[in-house]
Amino acid sequence: MKNATLYFEFHISITALIMFLLKVTTSPFHLLLLLKLILCLGGLTDFIFCFVYKTWRASAFGVYGYLNFTRNGFLEHSKKFKPEDMEIRIEGKNCVVTGANSGIGFATAEALASCGATVYMVCRNKEKGETALSKIQSSTGNPNVHLEVCDLSSISKIKSFASRFSSKDVPVHVLVNNAGLMEQKRVTTSEGFELNFAVNVLGTYATTELMLPLLEIASPDARVITVSSGGMYTTPLTSDLQFSDGKFSGAEQYARNKRVQVALTEKWAEMYKNKGIGFYSMHPGWAETPGVAKSLPDFNKWLSGKLRTSEEGADTVIWLALQPKEKLVSGGFYFDRAEAPKHLKFAATRQSHAIIDSIVDTLRSLV
Ligand SMILES: NC(=O)c1ccc[n+]([C@@H]2O[C@H](COP(=O)([O-])OP(=O)(O)OC[C@H]3O[C@@H](n4cnc5c(N)ncnc54)[C@H](OP(=O)(O)O)[C@@H]3O)[C@@H](O)[C@H]2O)c1
Repeated sequence: MKNATLYFEFHISITALIMFLLKVTTSPFHLLLLLKLILCLGGLTDFIFCFVYKTWRASAFGVYGYLNFTRNGFLEHSKKFKPEDMEIRIEGKNCVVTGANSGIGFATAEALASCGATVYMVCRNKEKGETALSKIQSSTGNPNVHLEVCDLSSISKIKSFASRFSSKDVPVHVLVNNAGLMEQKRVTTSEGFELNFAVNVLGTYATTELMLPLLEIASPDARVITVSSGGMYTTPLTSDLQFSDGKFSGAEQYARNKRVQVALTEKWAEMYKNKGIGFYSMHPGWAETPGVAKSLPDFNKWLSGKLRTSEEGADTVIWLALQPKEKLVSGGFYFDRAEAPKHLKFAATRQSHAIIDSIVDTLRSLV
């Protein structure tokens, strides 16, 4: 009896479906209904996949980060560090460090100055820059430390800085793209760009491209080191560079920006492989800096005592600046003095790097 009912119901459903499909071919109303059903199911599948991936990426990042990016992670990884790697002197080399008045940028500028380099600190605030500069000169005894004032959220200011700096005609051996921020609210710059994008992506892109002629003079030893973030593990590359679609999230936008920096570094390595310039992106781990305290106060409090110092955060930047280039992989992403994966397992972010060419086209059109 039960089987007969089941058969009957199945038969009715199939008949109804056939009738519906027959109607679809003749009635625009039913055709529309079918299209809506397909779109709805497609949208639902996309939503579920998106949710699952986002949750997986965030959880995997949280666990991986807690184990590796904190101070304990640094202390563990540092057991493999070779002290002689940092004993290299770089007198006569010119290093440009952006965002050098604070946190990781300050620690980088100070360490490079203590290795004998001539250091150009690019800071947006003259007073803060001067204070940082005199601290570095007195702690290192190196008088060859200079201040360049530039707000890297503005293309016109970057252009005038680049032309001012180019007139010095000094070769640039090391460019450290460190300046960055995580602005939680959607702020638009006077040039009409979303602020995180303006500094983290467009500023990094424009500074590097405009410095290329000076980097070329320093080839084959020239290198560009971009301070990205492990936060980029949580997101694929997207062409929505200014977060125009959906509800704005500063943390998500920051992660997207940092993903662009990693993909851009890969692209630069490929584009300029014959110019004698090495391109590296890196992740400093989670370091206690004024930037983190301001942008992520809860995170800062939660991990109080477990965060790296700015010097520990800067360690891999300095290592990348000092090592012979033969030891390094251009286009690579580095963490704690070693090449690190650019994608978390099963995170489905790898394929997204295929859109970097169109992103470069967009960035080129904005500079
Ligand atoms: N700390 C971490 O745990 C961590 C983790 C991953 C990645 N990072 C990255 O590390 C880099 C340094 O960050 P931090 O933690 O050391 O933060 P920080 O102490 O706030 O340093 C950021 C630097 O960037 C400068 N800057 C911001 N906007 C600028 C602009 N429009 N023009 C010029 N300079 C600008 C800041 O100048 P002002 O002082 O004038 O604001 C400051 O000197 C950033 O790229 C950040 O994304 C940090």
